[in-house]
Amino acid sequence: MSTPLIRPNVLELEPYSPGKPIEEVKRELGLSDVIKLASNENPLGPSPRAIEAAIRAMQTVNLYPDGSCFELRQAVAKHLGVPSECLLFGNGSDELIHYIGLTFLMPGDEVVTGDPSFVRYEAAAKLNNAPLHLVPLREHRFDLSAMLERVSERTKLIFIANPNNPTGTIVTAQEAEAFMSALPGHVVVVWDQAYQEYVSRPDYPDTLRYVREGRNVIVLRTFSKAYALAGLRVGYAVARADIIDAMNRVREPFNVNSVAQAAALAALEDQEHLRRAVELNRQGLEYLYQHFERLGLRYVRSEANCVMVDMGRDSQPVFQSLLRKGVIVRTGHIFGLPTYLRVTTGKPEENERFICALEEVLQA
Ligand SMILES: Cc1ncc(COP(=O)(O)O)c(C=O)c1O
Repeated sequence: MSTPLIRPNVLELEPYSPGKPIEEVKRELGLSDVIKLASNENPLGPSPRAIEAAIRAMQTVNLYPDGSCFELRQAVAKHLGVPSECLLFGNGSDELIHYIGLTFLMPGDEVVTGDPSFVRYEAAAKLNNAPLHLVPLREHRFDLSAMLERVSERTKLIFIANPNNPTGTIVTAQEAEAFMSALPGHVVVVWDQAYQEYVSRPDYPDTLRYVREGRNVIVLRTFSKAYALAGLRVGYAVARADIIDAMNRVREPFNVNSVAQAAALAALEDQEHLRRAVELNRQGLEYLYQHFERLGLRYVRSEANCVMVDMGRDSQPVFQSLLRKGVIVRTGHIFGLPTYLRVTTGKPEENERFICALEEVLQA
């Protein structure tokens, strides 16, 4: 029997399915005015200082970027209070999830995560032939006790999105603590904190502490969400220096481009803009909650920039009707929650437009 041309586990991967682009919806439905509340993007836009820095950096794109992200690394290290050797930058945290799979997963290793959660953990496991244990969320939250029960001597990686995507929920400091103290030493825990800047709850865990304590922990953060640089692709990992050194061997030499590095540095320095983005999101969530309650719709309180709302019936027709009104959201089908819609907070006028459209659709 001849060997297959393509690795069978590659053919098992599902290509990533992004939120529907605005231009596609305009084209397909003949609409001129479309809003997208589907991809957890930041409606405020980037800091003007980040935009200026990006434009300035364009003048030197004839040169390769600094592969080590020196300046950005120093600034993030100072911002977090961690040594700069404990940081690795990626072309979005997506790339770092990919690197984590490549760095750690050996034949026989297994991966544990929650379900539903961010789909790229599954891709990292499958690409490396690692069996994946999906542990159902409990009341829309990561169920750390149930995940602990799935841990065996074969478990190598555990991915925890905190806050979770799509549910926006968090595990608390107390839950994280109980989990981390019960976990055997051979497991690496990835705390994916893509949405952490939005969190308002005081019982949110400080996972950098585990890095400082020398645990097998990788904390992932990104400039895509609250810092509004999704299009430039900058994320970073915080971990023990030996873990970072290993992942750095896997890293593509120039994985974060120079425009992105300059913009991320300027965005980090503009904490006032970040606060505005976080406040806009808080107001957006409150507005959505208030109207979901008025419309009698159940929803999941969120610490991120998206909220799951239950239509109480198949959400696909609601999604389609919203599309025809020029409002793009996500259906819960992709997350195994077929009665839900996931809505990203938008600008106030976008949130209002979504609620008006939803009300019309539900009344029709
Ligand atoms: C939980 C989570 N992790 C990581 C990412 C990827 O973010 P990035 O843009 O940094 O690749 C996302 C994006 O939606 C996410 O929801």
